[in-house]
Formats: sequence, C-alpha cells, structure tokens
Amino acid sequence: MTDPRSPEDWLTELVPEAIAAREKAYAPYSRFMVGAALVTRTGKIFRGCNVENASYPAGICAERTALVSMIASGEREPVAMAVVTEGERGGSPCGICRQMLSEFTRDMPMALVGISGDKQVRRDTNLSSLLPDAFDFEKSTDPRTRK
Ligand code: THU
Repeated sequence: MTDPRSPEDWLTELVPEAIAAREKAYAPYSRFMVGAALVTRTGKIFRGCNVENASYPAGICAERTALVSMIASGEREPVAMAVVTEGERGGSPCGICRQMLSEFTRDMPMALVGISGDKQVRRDTNLSSLLPDAFDFEKSTDPRTRK
C-alpha cells in the first residue's frame, strides 16, 4: 500500500532516524560518523551508517548502507532520505552515493543535517540537484530491458 504522507513530510520524521543510525557508525579511522535514513513508497524506513575498514577503500558510506539494506529487504523505491553528519553545515553525499541512489530514484528530496553541540542545521535539497544528468543507459541500449 502506498503511504499517504508526502516525501517532504517524511524528511522531518527521517531526521531522528538518521541521528539514531549515526550512533551506530563504525568510523575508527576518520572519526567522522554519518547516519542516514530513507523511506520507501510503501512507508518502510531503512537506516544506514558508515562502516569503515582497515583497508580504507573497503569502507561504505551511510547513504549506501541504507540503500543496500532497502534492496536486501525487497524494496526498490526510496522516496525521501535524511543524512546526518557532525558540523555546522550538513554534509553533502559523495559522488558514488549519488550515482547509487540514482539507480532507484531521480528526484528524491533529501535533508542534509549538520549537528554541532546542541545545534542542528538542516538544508533540504533533492537528488536531481545533487546529480543532474546522472549516468544511465538509453532505453534502447539498457541491458535490463533489452531482449
Ligand atoms: N561518508 C558518508 O558516510 N557519507 C557521506 O556522504 C560522505 C562520507 C563517510 C565515509 C567515511 O567513513 C567518512 O564519512 C569520512 O569520509
């Protein structure tokens, strides 16, 4: 069933979810903890945090952790996402996360929240502003639909 809340309504609900997710971050190398939460069209919420590794490039960002959790649960349609980092200005998702998210949504609204002490600064944007002209196959060449 489709949830009646608008994606914008969801952003406010997702911020505390992303804050809780951030507490689980495993970031002993950068010490930069990130939390993310997304909601799907059916109203299910998935959380993610960054998970680093002694082999640094093996680490994964919070946004992709939330996305892979969603896919592993059988969901395919994220409709809104909040991302929480420390700092006076919300962080901005990295290029790899933008591309990964764009596989499943083009225009999802996103709340980028920075936490510094008791202060929270939230900046709302959307994936198409963060990643205009994302890579994808043209319809005729798309291996997902080509016969
Ligand atoms: N990181 C995220 O989780 N999300 C972002 O949008 C940017 C960066 C993580 C990756 C790494 O664990 C740490 O933050 C520092 O780059």
